[in-house]
Amino acid sequence: MRDPQIHPVRDAMNYRDGLDKDIGQVQPAGPELFVMPMWTEDYCAYVVEQAEKAHAFARGKGYQGGGENPAIRTTDVKLSDLPDVFQGYQQTYTNLLAKIIKKIWLVNVEHNDAFITRYTMQTQQRLLQHIDHSSIVSMTIKLNKDFTGGALHFVRQKLVNTDVPIGHLTFFPSGCTHVHEVQPLLSGRRYAITFWTKPKFTP
Ligand SMILES: [Fe+2]
Repeated sequence: MRDPQIHPVRDAMNYRDGLDKDIGQVQPAGPELFVMPMWTEDYCAYVVEQAEKAHAFARGKGYQGGGENPAIRTTDVKLSDLPDVFQGYQQTYTNLLAKIIKKIWLVNVEHNDAFITRYTMQTQQRLLQHIDHSSIVSMTIKLNKDFTGGALHFVRQKLVNTDVPIGHLTFFPSGCTHVHEVQPLLSGRRYAITFWTKPKFTP
């Protein structure tokens, strides 16, 4: 956890101050898999704090990561429950992410859903292999590092996100080319955020 002497808890943190100075610098991380700095470590800690303050983590409630499949539901908080973060993200999506996705995959997609997931030893510890059937391009940010195990694993690519820094966006096609899972948590608490997209139909 963050040291309150070093990182005093703030009631509000400006979204612009939370953007990584290298945002936009996309790096390949594997087949059809990319990584880009997006949020600072400090901002990720702020997002976790705000999500915990919302007291909304509840497995099986509402619209979940697994949709109608109970086997792959997550324990999460909707990003829309954190309005300042959500509004900032939407700006980043429109101004940058949609353009990057268009450049890489030649598709027009728009924001669909976003939620913060939490894994603990007492609650949800893993997420079984799945595809994100409610998304076209999926994106995720690791929000903390105070845990062991719990790696995001791309099954066909045989890649894990263990070495991806906090605050970096990992993004990939949501379908059958990128079957993925969260491996069992071994200790600590794991927080991440998932962003989904949907087709944007233009005349
Ligand atoms: Fe997923």
